[in-house]
Amino acid sequence: MSSPPATAVRVDEQQIRALPKAEVHVHLEGTFSLIDLLTLAKENDVPLPGPAASVFDISTHADYIAPEVTSGVGGSGAGSAGLTGFLRFLDWQCGLVRTPAQAARVAYAFAARQTAAGVRYSDVIVNPTHWNAWRGREHALLDALTAGLDEAEQDGLCRVSIAYSLLRSQSAGEAEDIVAGLVRARLPRVVALSVDGDEKVAGRTGEKFHDAFTAAAAAGLHRTVHAGESSGPEGVWDAIDLLQAERIDHGVRAIEDDALIARLIEDRISLGVCPRSNVTLGIYPDWTSHPIRRLVDAGVLVTLNTDDPAPMGTTLDVDWAVTAERFGFDLSDMVGFAQRSIDASFADDDLKRDLSTELSSVSATLR
Ligand code: ADE
Ligand code: ZN
Repeated sequence: MSSPPATAVRVDEQQIRALPKAEVHVHLEGTFSLIDLLTLAKENDVPLPGPAASVFDISTHADYIAPEVTSGVGGSGAGSAGLTGFLRFLDWQCGLVRTPAQAARVAYAFAARQTAAGVRYSDVIVNPTHWNAWRGREHALLDALTAGLDEAEQDGLCRVSIAYSLLRSQSAGEAEDIVAGLVRARLPRVVALSVDGDEKVAGRTGEKFHDAFTAAAAAGLHRTVHAGESSGPEGVWDAIDLLQAERIDHGVRAIEDDALIARLIEDRISLGVCPRSNVTLGIYPDWTSHPIRRLVDAGVLVTLNTDDPAPMGTTLDVDWAVTAERFGFDLSDMVGFAQRSIDASFADDDLKRDLSTELSSVSATLR
């Protein structure tokens, strides 16, 4: 992978914020700020896993996070396995959300932070297995999150839809029951089925979730699938061939398989790429080795996202600016990322059209 050109200029973050855009790969579980966490911990009288200043220093906290309160992702602790330990940390912090008002508050705060980064529409991934106080009451959790998102929208913040995420270690039966429940309930903000969790720990899960995703598609739910993060290209093939994925979350390891790249392009399947997350969780050793530039140059529909911005210490506008600088993308490239984010989103057609029109006029003024 080549370094950015010597002439690379950091695209101004204010210009980036001004671009109407969507974020399509972000987990609500990864958006609690330090103040959110401190407030929740205090309200519930739960001790922090360490000093407040280093609460996001996940590798030092594995011992505080009891395995019995986790959603069973396996692994031996945060320090020993980046993604597995990180998922445990999400279990711990989502376990602090216990009341409908708390759930509504974190959803509202998410919409506010997205809006501040210039996001006009977001699909947010919610994996209820992390929210252990809501076990068996998952729809009540979704109702409470929806109340927060409704209030946010009424207050002029960005529109947010929910992708309900299965955990990779759940069984086929659990997944099918979840989809049947979603189809029955028709929850107003839930527009998609997703699957996340650690591919390396769970192994190939395409066959296991085939029927659940088929039922979701038949009921008109969109499909977005984590793959090609801790798995290789085979995870992405399974997502396309077995799960009818319209989008792949991450998918970066598709770069290792030319036939897969051709398939992604031909079927217009976008990759929700998150370079900072991949580097933070050790998928790539550094930004320089990350394949985002090669994927874009190959013609893959790449969107640029944060994954879990709060514990990774970032926001979308910052990550767009850093990515532009590191990989030599200019402002017109960033307009391309914005357009692809709108196109790849699960927003309704009217909103997509309005955002695209607005993006054209804003980008004309930036030239
Ligand atoms: N859940 C939250 N972040 C994730 C990631 N990077 N990979 C898989 N599952 C996740
Ligand atoms: Zn993700």
